[in-house]
Amino acid sequence: MIDESEFRRVIGHFATGVSVVTSCRGDGAACGLTVSAVSALSLDPTLVLVCVSHGSETHGWIREAGYYAVNVLEEGKGETLARRFAGGGGEEKFRGTAWRPERTGAPVLDESLAWLDCRVSAALEGGDHTIFVGEVLAADAREGTPLLYYRGGYGRFES
Ligand SMILES: Cc1cc2nc3c(=O)[nH]c(=O)nc-3n(C[C@H](O)[C@H](O)[C@H](O)COP(=O)(O)O)c2cc1C
Repeated sequence: MIDESEFRRVIGHFATGVSVVTSCRGDGAACGLTVSAVSALSLDPTLVLVCVSHGSETHGWIREAGYYAVNVLEEGKGETLARRFAGGGGEEKFRGTAWRPERTGAPVLDESLAWLDCRVSAALEGGDHTIFVGEVLAADAREGTPLLYYRGGYGRFES
């Protein structure tokens, strides 16, 4: 086993996109967190997975609601969202950010570059995270440049 800081240093070389995974609390309020651990899982059926820390406030709400949305962030304004949703603040995270409930009820942010609305079909334990497997019920995307995350910093894709 290697130690956590070494693991973070090495795995940080795997560049990812950045998303905000949203759901709803028991009182109906929107909740969410910044997530880089997102992956396509299956084409038939269409499944995606997200890995959410047991320590995250949103974790319990996703489990309870049984749905979530993956909001893929764009460079520029998306970085502000990524920083905000990676901090504390509960409902405050959504202040000044337009969103709508999608088919499952999960909040989809107007500023998303792409989004996937998912019903949880499995919750698998993986160490200190839960892997939420989501069946994709609705999704869309628009033109734009994605926000990237690499070695602890934000960046943009250039072709
Ligand atoms: C770029 C970036 C990627 C992150 N990826 C994840 C992730 O994949 N899973 C996770 O549980 N937390 C991830 N986090 C940390 C959460 O966003 C952070 O712990 C957040 O405060 C949790 O919010 P909550 O407690 O309101 O749910 C990431 C943070 C950043 C900045």
